[in-house]
Amino acid sequence: MSIDLTAASITEVVQKTFEDAEDERVKELLVRLVQHLHDFTREVRLTGEEWFKVMDFLERVGKTCTPTRQEFVLLSDILGLSVLVDLIHHPGGGSATDSTLLGPFYVEGRPTAKNGSDISGEVDGPPLFFNGQVLDPDGNPVAGAKVDTWHSDGEGLYDVQMPDKLHGQLAMRALLTTDDEGRFWYRSVAPRYYPVPTDGPCGEILRAANRSPMRPEHVHFWLHAEGFEPLITMLVRRDDPYVERDAVFGVRRSLVVDFVEHDAGETAPDGTCMDESFQAVEGTFVLARKER
Ligand code: BEZ
Ligand code: FE
Repeated sequence: MSIDLTAASITEVVQKTFEDAEDERVKELLVRLVQHLHDFTREVRLTGEEWFKVMDFLERVGKTCTPTRQEFVLLSDILGLSVLVDLIHHPGGGSATDSTLLGPFYVEGRPTAKNGSDISGEVDGPPLFFNGQVLDPDGNPVAGAKVDTWHSDGEGLYDVQMPDKLHGQLAMRALLTTDDEGRFWYRSVAPRYYPVPTDGPCGEILRAANRSPMRPEHVHFWLHAEGFEPLITMLVRRDDPYVERDAVFGVRRSLVVDFVEHDAGETAPDGTCMDESFQAVEGTFVLARKER
């Protein structure tokens, strides 16, 4: 190892320390990471003060994380990294439904629900009726697919953002199973556009860049079925003011759909004659076959 280091030569010296890594992929990732980190540092001539600010920032990102608050996921989202990783491996253009980012509000342990049930929990708001169908790439229904769905309330808040109001109960999320025709359907409350959380360190980046924190109105889905690739996706409201400027770059054209507004007195998709206005949304999800 060299003790005659320069700002140019240190990169190779550090990279050589990874040479004995047994896992080739780990080695590649570390070597290339050091290359890009060092190049970045030389390019911007990072000062010691700035680097300490970065480390303090990362420390605060870590300390903001809880089981229901994932600031590192949010950091990856606002920097476009979550979507970049997804786009590299799911560029779209095939027969399968486009995927997009998971976001920080998926939680394990969500309740299972029967088709047709109301998944809104203790949350009030104008009703939303969702009707979906899961198909294979040939257009045949996928029966028995597991469909996770979750969304915000009419003020743009997820259940985990209002634990006091909901007494820690989960709401507006469920795991459903498709029927023989590949269909799943449920009732909930209408979501709304919302800001990503800005009360933590990621908010500092958005404010420093004068960037909007808003995400357009959407509903999330995570689908699993035997023999198919899992699909993480969401459907986004077409006439939403933020559809073209999502803070986390998660909207893809094919995922933009109509959230249809209906007046009181109209019949809901489940046959109920409604005495209040409601939204109806439909979605078809095509799963890619798992390669053997
Ligand atoms: C979401 O859609 O739930 C979300 C995604 C990224 C950052 C914040 C929220
Ligand atoms: Fe969301």
